[in-house]
Amino acid sequence: MLEVKNLAVNYRGVTAVEDVSFRSLPGQIVGVIGPNGAGKSTMVKAILGLVPSTSGVVKFRDRALKQQLNSVAYVPQRSQIDWDYPITVWNVVLMARTVHTGWFREPSRSSQEIVKDALVRVGMLELRSRQIGELSGGQQQRVFLARALAQQAELLFFDEPFVGVDKKTEAIIFEVFEELKSQGKILLVITHDLGTALTKCDQLLLLNKQIIADGSMKEVMTADNIQRAYGDSIFIFNREVV
Ligand SMILES: Nc1ncnc2c1ncn2[C@@H]1O[C@H](COP(=O)(O)OP(=O)(O)OP(=O)(O)O)[C@@H](O)[C@H]1O
Ligand SMILES: [Mg+2]
Repeated sequence: MLEVKNLAVNYRGVTAVEDVSFRSLPGQIVGVIGPNGAGKSTMVKAILGLVPSTSGVVKFRDRALKQQLNSVAYVPQRSQIDWDYPITVWNVVLMARTVHTGWFREPSRSSQEIVKDALVRVGMLELRSRQIGELSGGQQQRVFLARALAQQAELLFFDEPFVGVDKKTEAIIFEVFEELKSQGKILLVITHDLGTALTKCDQLLLLNKQIIADGSMKEVMTADNIQRAYGDSIFIFNREVV
């Protein structure tokens, strides 16, 4: 189980995340939604210790998460990745294996097999020698998904994986998510897509600095909760989905 208690983050004295607490069970896809600037990315970074938190405890399997970061995969929001970094598709995915083999050892044959399988799984093996900066947005997302797969993590974080991807890539991402879920992993997925993606989630967290609602889609997506998180701007949300 992933357990987050009273997590808070300030950027230069301004509160970005406040008193966030929730629990997630193995084999669950956890959707995180909320308006721009709600603190979704910040919350994930604070869970991973990538930004300092002013308070909070994060436990995974009853132990501090920061002592188990090799069980964690994280795919950042696209805008936060340096795409000019000169590295091939194959090496991006192979990097996931360094947690297992160390930086300076030759990757083992089994690591290379795992990398290959992950690239096949997302349909990117043919482009393995391409520079990562020379891929389309959807192809880049698939490579990062392959990296998360190759890492064989137990806890996976995806920050807006559906942005700018076509239906085919979206379908591949969903399939892989379902597979990981059936292996008992926990997936935390930030999304702006209030449609299909939400129906795949076992648990939803609606965030606007604080947790506005936490539960099933039906429990969370009430007109009242949506209004509290997004204000009046989201009148398009139709009550049939609620
Ligand atoms: N490095 C930073 N320094 C200062 N303020 C920051 C920093 N990163 C984010 N913020 C601020 O913290 C708040 C939360 O930002 P965050 O990126 O977590 O939101 P988000 O919910 O992920 O938004 P989006 O949907 O646009 O990705 C925003 O007000 C943002 O301006
Ligand atoms: Mg974000």
